[in-house]
Amino acid sequence: MSKVTSLLGAISEVGRDASRGGYSRPVYSTAELDLRSWFIAEAERRGLAVNTDRNGIIWAWYGPEQDDSLVTGSHLDSVPGGGAFDGPLGVAAALAAVDELRARGVEPGRNGKRSLAVTVFPEEEGSRFGIACLGSRLLTGAIDADKARNLKDAEGNSFAELSARNGLSAERLGADPEGLARIGQFIELHVEQGRGLIELDSPVAVAGSILGHGRWKFTISGQGNHAGTTLMTDRADPMVAAAQIILSAQKVAAAQSEARATVGRLQPIPGGTNVIASRVELWLDVRHPDDAVTAAVVQKIHGQAQIAAANEGCTVTLTEESLSPTTGFDQGLAAELQRLLPAAPVLDSGAGHDAGILASYLPAGMLFIRNPTGISHSPEEAVEDRDADSAAALLADVLQGLL
Ligand code: GLV
Ligand code: MN
Ligand code: MN
Ligand code: MN
Repeated sequence: MSKVTSLLGAISEVGRDASRGGYSRPVYSTAELDLRSWFIAEAERRGLAVNTDRNGIIWAWYGPEQDDSLVTGSHLDSVPGGGAFDGPLGVAAALAAVDELRARGVEPGRNGKRSLAVTVFPEEEGSRFGIACLGSRLLTGAIDADKARNLKDAEGNSFAELSARNGLSAERLGADPEGLARIGQFIELHVEQGRGLIELDSPVAVAGSILGHGRWKFTISGQGNHAGTTLMTDRADPMVAAAQIILSAQKVAAAQSEARATVGRLQPIPGGTNVIASRVELWLDVRHPDDAVTAAVVQKIHGQAQIAAANEGCTVTLTEESLSPTTGFDQGLAAELQRLLPAAPVLDSGAGHDAGILASYLPAGMLFIRNPTGISHSPEEAVEDRDADSAAALLADVLQGLL
């Protein structure tokens, strides 16, 4: 069986980010396109029939393409300066599991067995177009196709333009009931993104649920001006209001059990050292198991933002960019995964995943693989070689048991 470690080794230089550290592989960047080509070549080398659907999801078929198949996969795009495993671990483990199934003489699509497909979803991180899990949201119809088409990246390219540049039809982006019907069950294997498995002293877990999460954009408008000639008393500086919004987010979430609030991205416009910004765009990520609490946390931060902006002579607007409720995985499938992996504990996920989007439409489940640093969305994200290689065998066990 080809090792997950050697598959990942082959892409270890793709999309390396020398300035941030780690990898920057935004969807449809040269790096992500290289990874997609790598995946297609690896799948074809295994005799799988590969096609890319109307939404840019790659499907690699072991057995004939048919409804109600068993599907596994993940994503190849990354956050800016991300780790090597978030996404690629699930894709490489799926390829290695295909080898393992073949070595075991298991033949999907034959002798009464369902077909197996390996999928790669585009823009899981939402780091280029702002909405995470865009591929699975399009497939399921969870996002309106026009909204997706009009999403813009930092350079002003629309998702429709980028899709068209990559061989897709902009008009055909959107809900794909035939594609969705191909998936009878979906399994995503993923690096764990926290310390859960370190604390449980286990190499693998079965996912229980995905924490509800959303993204909001604050636009704070003030008066652009000269840093040297404008007295402190004469300013309407949106960066000052932004600083207070960041502190509000931290305080409001810290006061609410289980809430998480993050400002990881902020854009002063025009952005000069000696320029008081005229406008600041600031993105807020809020998560909580209770969706009503998430809404209340955002509302509270918004209230404090309005006061902070007014005190600074600025105005502020808030736009919701995406919202995903807390999602439980299919209980029957989770029980089946636990039967196949009896030593694996159940772990909830603080991170979002395509499997979580699909879970609202069909039986989906996830396996988490131990991360010895407990750190993710960072170059320090890690997986031990032995865990990476046993991940593929575990995935093969699960796929074989479900086929
Ligand atoms: C995606 O990884 C997310 O949970 O933000
Ligand atoms: Mn991921
Ligand atoms: Mn991620
Ligand atoms: Mn994710």
